[in-house]
Amino acid sequence: MYITGVFIAVDMDYLKILGAGAVTLGAVTTATAVYLSQKPHPIPMVVDMLDQTAEVPGKDRARISRYCKNGKLVEYLDKDVRTLYEAFRNGARLSSNGQALGWKPGPKEPYKWLSYNDTLVKAANLGAGLIHLGEMPVNTTNIGIYSQNRPEYVILEQACYMYSMVIVPLYDTLGEEACTFIINQAEIQTVVCDKNVKVLKLLQKREQTPNLKLVIVMEETTGEVENLAKQTGVKLLHYDTVEKLGEDNPQEPRPAKPSDRCVICYTSGTTGLPKGAILTHSSIISIDAGGLTLNPADRMISYLPLAHSYERLIEVSVYMGGGGIGFFQGDVRKLMDDIQELKPTVFASVPRLLNRFYDKVTAGVNASSVKKMLFSIAMREKEKELRRGIVRKDSIWDKFVFQKIQAGLGGRVRLITTGSAPLSPKVLSFLRCCVGCPILEGYGQTESSAIISLQLPGEPEVGNVGPPLACNYVKLVDVREMDYWAADGRGEICLKGPNLFGGYLKDPEKTKEVLDEEGWLHTGDIGAWCPNGTLKIIDRKKHIFKLAQGEYIAPEKIENVYVRSPLVCQVFIYGESLKATLVGVAVPDPDTLPGFAKKQLGLSGSVEDLARNPIVKEAIMESLMETAKKGGLASFEQMRDVYVYPEMFSVENGLLTPTFKAKRHELQKYFKPQIDAMYTKLQ
Ligand SMILES: *[C@@H]1O[C@H](CO)[C@@H](O)[C@H](O)[C@H]1NC(C)=O
Ligand SMILES: *[C@@H]1O[C@H](CO)[C@@H](O)[C@H](O)[C@H]1NC(C)=O
Ligand SMILES: *[C@@H]1O[C@H](CO)[C@@H](O)[C@H](O)[C@H]1NC(C)=O
Ligand SMILES: *[C@@H]1O[C@H](CO)[C@@H](O)[C@H](O)[C@H]1NC(C)=O
Repeated sequence: MYITGVFIAVDMDYLKILGAGAVTLGAVTTATAVYLSQKPHPIPMVVDMLDQTAEVPGKDRARISRYCKNGKLVEYLDKDVRTLYEAFRNGARLSSNGQALGWKPGPKEPYKWLSYNDTLVKAANLGAGLIHLGEMPVNTTNIGIYSQNRPEYVILEQACYMYSMVIVPLYDTLGEEACTFIINQAEIQTVVCDKNVKVLKLLQKREQTPNLKLVIVMEETTGEVENLAKQTGVKLLHYDTVEKLGEDNPQEPRPAKPSDRCVICYTSGTTGLPKGAILTHSSIISIDAGGLTLNPADRMISYLPLAHSYERLIEVSVYMGGGGIGFFQGDVRKLMDDIQELKPTVFASVPRLLNRFYDKVTAGVNASSVKKMLFSIAMREKEKELRRGIVRKDSIWDKFVFQKIQAGLGGRVRLITTGSAPLSPKVLSFLRCCVGCPILEGYGQTESSAIISLQLPGEPEVGNVGPPLACNYVKLVDVREMDYWAADGRGEICLKGPNLFGGYLKDPEKTKEVLDEEGWLHTGDIGAWCPNGTLKIIDRKKHIFKLAQGEYIAPEKIENVYVRSPLVCQVFIYGESLKATLVGVAVPDPDTLPGFAKKQLGLSGSVEDLARNPIVKEAIMESLMETAKKGGLASFEQMRDVYVYPEMFSVENGLLTPTFKAKRHELQKYFKPQIDAMYTKLQ
């Protein structure tokens, strides 16, 4: 492999072992790995798990990962792989032109794959086509993309990187005002869309975006869209046409430099206009150098929006290592089918999905007392192994208890990352036992190119987010108003390192709010150092609010408890600082509610009908109360009333962010009448 260094050598070793389905002795280098077929051995630890970080002298108690050698941060591993363009070419080489991008042409059709070289050829053509149409191959040209994840998305990214241009994702959930704002602020002349409906949205706002010149669409255009384009004076071309134009008018590549921007990631603030976080090639490469290492056998399922930096980051690590990325069909409800077919080895996940998975499995297990008993014994045994650093899926417990569950995820998963919100410790250890692969919880934000800290393979503990990545320092800073003090190892998490973003586009003021004079990023999250040197997220400066009696409420933590109720799948908690109590909105689980209503309450009907029924509401409230008690919520953390809403909060209806986090502000606005009614009733 192209990578040297002890950490990576060990890491590669260990991944190869898992890939081979056997378990091996922890040798230090690949060359000396000794395979033993059955006897379980701990996986090689890359650092002493009891001492994962070191304090950096003279830096306000900042800490770095123990695998930084001589106190130096890692910027890149290979001097020839310093941009996302070089990363993709590296994948082409490592995989000997293997499968790069996979998609399902239709629900019944199998995955089709585009090879690395074919992807690069298409990217070169697309890039040359854009240049032929008037875009400049320079590092200040911003190209918009308004599309779900699919091969053309990655091809466009590579086209940009090959010609030093910058990609700017647009997405629905930012709101239409935001799209207009972004096109203007980033001076975007070309937007590439997947669907006609998105083209329509852009053209209908054409008056507000006078600099928009060209819209490229991936599907066949409709007459409506063509007419509107003519009327508004925007050039409309099919994606294939632009590739063909480039093929006929080729251009020499002008690859981006490591210091160039590669993407401007707009994120919605809680209020006001979106902010465009500038990420450079070197910032993303530094994370992939200090984080995950993947290989050509890897397959990743791509379903979290590429507009989010976390998804892009994991995809980059897949193609940097020569693996393949398979796109979901575009419908979250069919995700499990896509997974069954793709059989991914790598999975970038978010708690909402893992929680659902957990609920489905435990509901199945609880249905029979024999199953339940067997399951809990198996869990106990696997937990013991985890404590000894053994991570595997070939134990007797796997064969008889967990294999079916593993098959549900395709059977080949060997690495899952979870981020973007805290995952409950119970779910994390459950998954580690029954999926039988490292499941690493991480923490980060767009301004750190997505990740700040990530658990190391073999971490048996839950409730921490691992040591800082090898590419950044982390220090904790006093937060007086919340009584957190750095001297006690608690405070606001701040970081510095090559993965830091390059500020918000044309917004020095907002940049100054998060980036201090010494170049530390202030995250707004409160962390604590654990005795083993890992970081733990204990609080937030942002969403936290106070109830009238003075108690601080962390709504996300509470919601994560409530969604454990078998009858609901989503919960939104709300509290007013003028009131002493919380109220909530719950979405019933369409899979369990009808059965429950029929069996327990003798009621039938659609989920909508049931949601309206006061008897059902009472039953749901009861289940929520029970869940809250089991989950250890304090009395002031428990909701006093609930409104049952039959439709899932989704990205489409604007109530979730693209990474499936609750949009609290929108939820509050949306449910204002019901919230007000509940508070009135409670008085
Ligand atoms: C892929 O492209 C590289 C670089 O252009 C070339 O060296 C290699 O032979 C190609 N592989 C195949 C299988 O076409
Ligand atoms: C673009 O490249 C030039 C020349 O290397 C460099 O000075 C400039 O900082 C770069 N600008 C951006 C936005 O990356
Ligand atoms: C299944 O049972 C376990 C242990 O009793 C409990 O913690 C869990 O919440 C139950 N899950 C469901 C979905 O009923
Ligand atoms: C530190 O690690 C050891 C061994 O993995 C574990 O037993 C212990 O609980 C950990 N402590 C914390 C606070 O994470």
